[in-house]
Amino acid sequence: MSQRVAIITGGGRGLGRAFAKRLAEDGKTVIIAEIDQENALKVKEEIISNGYKAYAIKTDVTDEFSVKQMVEEVCAACGRIDILVNNAALLGTLKRGPFEEITVDEFELAMRVNVTGSFIVTKAVIEVMRKTSWGRIINMSSDTALNGNPGFLHYVTTKGAIVSMTRALAREVGPNNITVNAIQPGLTETEVERGEERKELAKKVISAQCIPRQEIPDDLVGAISFLASEDSDFITGQTIAVNGGISFR
Ligand SMILES: NC(=O)c1ccc[n+]([C@@H]2O[C@H](COP(=O)([O-])OP(=O)(O)OC[C@H]3O[C@@H](n4cnc5c(N)ncnc54)[C@H](O)[C@@H]3O)[C@@H](O)[C@H]2O)c1
Repeated sequence: MSQRVAIITGGGRGLGRAFAKRLAEDGKTVIIAEIDQENALKVKEEIISNGYKAYAIKTDVTDEFSVKQMVEEVCAACGRIDILVNNAALLGTLKRGPFEEITVDEFELAMRVNVTGSFIVTKAVIEVMRKTSWGRIINMSSDTALNGNPGFLHYVTTKGAIVSMTRALAREVGPNNITVNAIQPGLTETEVERGEERKELAKKVISAQCIPRQEIPDDLVGAISFLASEDSDFITGQTIAVNGGISFR
């Protein structure tokens, strides 16, 4: 069998970058489908310089045409798609505040990127996955969906929707041997600088965790690697919280 192919949306920085690097180390050919092409190229070079295979394809997950072009490019270059990590999202740039101050445009933008984006990319890859009767879809939710963090209603809503989308999709594509699962990280420090307010928030979050230390991308890559592997063959529709035990279901 030729190398498995994994698409990571928003893989140009942060968690997506860590996921792309880990899946490449696991022996997958990695596609960084990212709106920020400069960052995507940097991650691609990082992966290639470590001796692994990667492509960077400029993609806007909210644009069906852009996503279709990306999928066609992947098929032409690799001939298959086995794994999709729906990771791209708006997060740090979303305005925080009381819900009545969030405008309808701001709410809809968060939904468009974080939810509709995952829907668009999943629709575009599913027929390619079905051809091999094997697939892994991993969606990024957030533990904010469990905790309902105040001042972030639009983001929290999108991450709750991702859990339901995961379950609904798992029911539809299970017969094709495609699994669909979600991961809920806690507040995770990446290489992206997020400012003082976030550092204060992190202190509170850490003190509420069973394991009282800062969550980092390396805490999440094991779950991604497992869900993308044959070892998770019979696990689908599930949401795995990787949050140092800040909350329990
Ligand atoms: N970092 C955290 O604390 C945390 C916690 C819980 C969940 N998450 C989730 O993990 C994922 C990654 O988070 P992160 O902290 O790495 O975020 P980030 O903002 O650092 O990275 C998001 C990436 O998505 C890309 N992107 C944005 N819009 C896009 C579009 N329309 N098309 C393609 N790419 C687009 C961005 O360019 C960026 O590279 C997100 O889904 C987020 O909701 C993160």
